[in-house]
Amino acid sequence: MDAYLLDIEQTSDDPDSIRTKRDLVFLLIDLFFAGSETTTNTLTHLFYYMAMNPDIQKKVQAEIDEVLPKGTLPTLDDRPSMPYTDAVIHEILRITSLVPLGVMHCANEDTQLSGYSIPKGTIITSAFSHIHFDSRHWEQAEKFMPERWLDQEGKFNGKRDGFVPFGIGRRSCLGETLARMELFIFSTAVFQSLNIAPPPGTALDLAHDDNQPFFHNAKTQDVYVTVR
Ligand code: HEM
Repeated sequence: MDAYLLDIEQTSDDPDSIRTKRDLVFLLIDLFFAGSETTTNTLTHLFYYMAMNPDIQKKVQAEIDEVLPKGTLPTLDDRPSMPYTDAVIHEILRITSLVPLGVMHCANEDTQLSGYSIPKGTIITSAFSHIHFDSRHWEQAEKFMPERWLDQEGKFNGKRDGFVPFGIGRRSCLGETLARMELFIFSTAVFQSLNIAPPPGTALDLAHDDNQPFFHNAKTQDVYVTVR
């Protein structure tokens, strides 16, 4: 923000300057929206899936207990020692496909792609959620299976074709590194201390909220939280 404000000041006499306070406000709204709705909803999905899959939740907690001494909060350095937790997070990113159509882009030159001709100026959107359920990449894609991210020795393998939750290329998610960090630190800290379950006698709806066509947001519902 400081750099942006300085630039506005320094280019105030330049009629071609594209920086204005109004533009800065929109950029900040973009960052707050893209940065908070996304991680919040992914974590909410993760909590619902853990609530509905108590065996998987127990495995995550067992891994956390094994790696982190009681009372020690997780750091990113712990991630390589927690392959199962990492696998759960990746499977949540795949199965929920939070941003199913990515962000719209515009072809800035005439382009040929896989036999299709895309004229300059065409608006293009991606079908990330479709890719995440494509049987060429994923067996039993409808199933929540964190193990698909682990090799036979239980080692985590995150490099998979057909996995694009943050988009791809030059305009892929600006916040990917931050989001991955937040997802790991927050979810391990939560499951280190808490159990999450559906309220007694109920089940959670894992489907996304259909009212939001551009996001696969989690539905608002109660969960039952107990201290471990
Ligand atoms: C789980 C969390 C997140 C997911 C799943 C996610 C996903 C995405 C996707 C799919 C795109 C579009 C990429 C494309 O069209 O190729 C995108 C763009 C973007 N994301 Fe994220 N995102 C997340 C978190 C964040 C965070 C934490 C921030 C910022 C702090 C952020 C900032 C942005 C911005 C600024 C863009 C536009 C980039 C551009 O147009 O160059 N995102 N994100």
